[in-house]
Amino acid sequence: MRVSVIGCGHLGAPHAAAMAELGHEVIGVELNPETCEILQSGRGAFYEKGLDDLLAKHVPTGRLRFTTDLAEAADFADLHFIAVGTPIRSDGHGYDTGQIIGAVRDLAPLLKRPATVVGKSTVTVGTVAHLQTILAEHAQGGVDLVWNPEFLREGHAIEDSLRPDRIVAGLTTSAAEKAVREVYAPILERGDAELIVTDPATAEVLKSAANAYLATKISYINAMAEICEITGADVATVAHGIGIDHRIGHAGMRPGIGYGGGCLPKDVAAFTHRVGELGATGASALLTAVEEINHSRLDAARALVEHAHGGPLGTATIAVLGASFKAGTSDVRSSPALRLAGLLQDAAARTVIHDPEAVPAARRLHPEYTYADTLGEALAGSDLVVLATEWPQYTKDPSLPVASAGLVRRPVLVDIRTAVDPAGWARAGWTVHQLGRSAHRPTTV
Ligand SMILES: NC(=O)c1ccc[n+]([C@@H]2O[C@H](COP(=O)([O-])OP(=O)(O)OC[C@H]3O[C@@H](n4cnc5c(N)ncnc54)[C@H](O)[C@@H]3O)[C@@H](O)[C@H]2O)c1
Repeated sequence: MRVSVIGCGHLGAPHAAAMAELGHEVIGVELNPETCEILQSGRGAFYEKGLDDLLAKHVPTGRLRFTTDLAEAADFADLHFIAVGTPIRSDGHGYDTGQIIGAVRDLAPLLKRPATVVGKSTVTVGTVAHLQTILAEHAQGGVDLVWNPEFLREGHAIEDSLRPDRIVAGLTTSAAEKAVREVYAPILERGDAELIVTDPATAEVLKSAANAYLATKISYINAMAEICEITGADVATVAHGIGIDHRIGHAGMRPGIGYGGGCLPKDVAAFTHRVGELGATGASALLTAVEEINHSRLDAARALVEHAHGGPLGTATIAVLGASFKAGTSDVRSSPALRLAGLLQDAAARTVIHDPEAVPAARRLHPEYTYADTLGEALAGSDLVVLATEWPQYTKDPSLPVASAGLVRRPVLVDIRTAVDPAGWARAGWTVHQLGRSAHRPTTV
């Protein structure tokens, strides 16, 4: 099929690459000329595992190409994915729908033959109905609109786009359903992803509800961490023990500094606002609590760092390991790691940030922070190491505790992601602090 992907950011670029991998002819439209040029050179404008490989495979053959020209895409493709941003409004009152309305309004008059527009961006309930009126007013050919929210996890964007666990299609015509079945045929034929065909409002709510539930799980276990901090109980054992019940599960139950990134914070905020507007008071109260708990984690993490240091940080040199909001991506949007680094930068004598992939993006956002090119450089002479993003280089390398103990001034680790095995670090002479747990003291030295 000939498809376009309009908006080639963290969602759109992996989606375009995955569509090419599935056998479609793909044109990606990206407004930002710099991003477009990088993508057309066959690499990603940001780090996402596996993205560069697919771009390098499909751009040189012409199966996948990128342009800033929407008219070229309208002319080329029969199905148009919309993957532009839906950031939170500056007043916090729901999404800023400017990008999405702009994309649909610009595309509509260019569609001269029957086409399907498939929205993948996250929107609140009611948006699709509004976009439908724009299309009806401005498109010349018969245009079907489908809402097909995306559930991919950053850091696994390619894998999740090629092998999604579900495909949700909110639509109103059989022609639209036919187009969705055709474009996702290579996935549906495998039989491992459920296709949920529903109405647009259900698709909109389903996506918001999914993200709100993920955020709730994270805030729930972080609230349990707070209880453990007061009672002396161990939250990691609590999380493990309750997660054995398959109705609860272990996924998303790791205590830590809370959720961040380009999706959950703004999606929960927008949903909270929308359910409030709609008068769903129970949902509003629940989601407000989820957000409040999440916000409180930054203070909890900072307090833990001070506790680990044994007092005010004024003279401390701190190494912060990680800047991206999670491992596997260079995305630093609403990154708890970077926010904590900022607080520490203000409080400590020196704070040095290392990240295997996200330093360029972090530097663009916060040029005033200090960054290290290598892990060794970040660790050298530090009084305190704060593990802020759970990159496997930091958490899974069994030689790191021993190797890094020789570089730091004091072997004290604050693992705000509950990501390392504290016993292993303690054996290498480290004191390890994690949220909601007693400190692990060195078992040698
Ligand atoms: N990032 C994720 O993992 C993820 C997952 C699921 C859903 N989503 C949703 O997908 C949407 C996009 O998120 P993102 O993280 O990719 O945002 P992003 O900011 O990384 O990407 C959006 C891109 O769209 C481009 N753009 C804006 N208007 C355009 C236009 N008219 N024509 C062409 N390009 C245009 C921007 O320049 C930008 O590169 C959001 O609604 C988000 O909530 C994202």
